Amino acid sequence: MDAVGQEVSGGPLPQIEALIHARRTTLPKRLQGPGPDAAQKERILSAASAAPDHQQLLPWRLVEVSQDKRELLAQAFAQALLERDPLAQTEEIKQAREKAFRAPWLLLAICRTHDLVEATDNPVPASERLVSLGCALQNMMLICSALGLGSGLTSGKAMRSQALRALFGLSDQEEAVCCLNIGHIRAPRENRQRPSTEAFFSSL
Ligand SMILES: Cc1cc2nc3c(=O)[nH]c(=O)nc-3n(C[C@H](O)[C@H](O)[C@H](O)COP(=O)(O)O)c2cc1C
Repeated sequence: MDAVGQEVSGGPLPQIEALIHARRTTLPKRLQGPGPDAAQKERILSAASAAPDHQQLLPWRLVEVSQDKRELLAQAFAQALLERDPLAQTEEIKQAREKAFRAPWLLLAICRTHDLVEATDNPVPASERLVSLGCALQNMMLICSALGLGSGLTSGKAMRSQALRALFGLSDQEEAVCCLNIGHIRAPRENRQRPSTEAFFSSL
């Protein structure tokens, strides 16, 4: 019997394992529209809410950047580049801007890495909060795979820029971690070699 009382041999385990192992990153340039429909979006977001969350702080949030707001994101990406390199060339700025338009559905994942006033004398550290966000993102990407959609995370220095922080109204306690890009798969990516379990598992 497994944790939900089903016979393992006849239960969903093979499908769950297949889903986990089949998921792989589809970067935004390999995605195409349409994005998920309303019902699919709800399923994907609902999966995020199933993430483990120490002390139920809900230490993360997801902000959709709808198509009519992509220009604002493009401006922030361009500004982020200029913050790092005031002498950035026109072509580099163009490339930075283009990243805002690629994904059919684009969400920014934001983590509240600490609280101004901790609720208890046992504060949940940033590492645990980021794990919670990571679990939420993985849940969402697995549902995308099950729906036949592609998904992938993208990050970069723009995440830490003042331009992006201002656009999304981040508080001093929040970090922009990465974008979650979702859509239909235009060009599948080649399989990557997964690490063997010996690479990350040992016994004390
Ligand atoms: C927080 C986070 C940020 C990422 N940002 C990028 C990125 O900016 N560009 C990119 O090509 N891949 C990015 N990735 C995706 C990884 O490159 C990808 O997961 C890795 O290549 C493994 O491939 P797989 O997801 O298909 O197993 C990111 C992954 C994580 C967890």
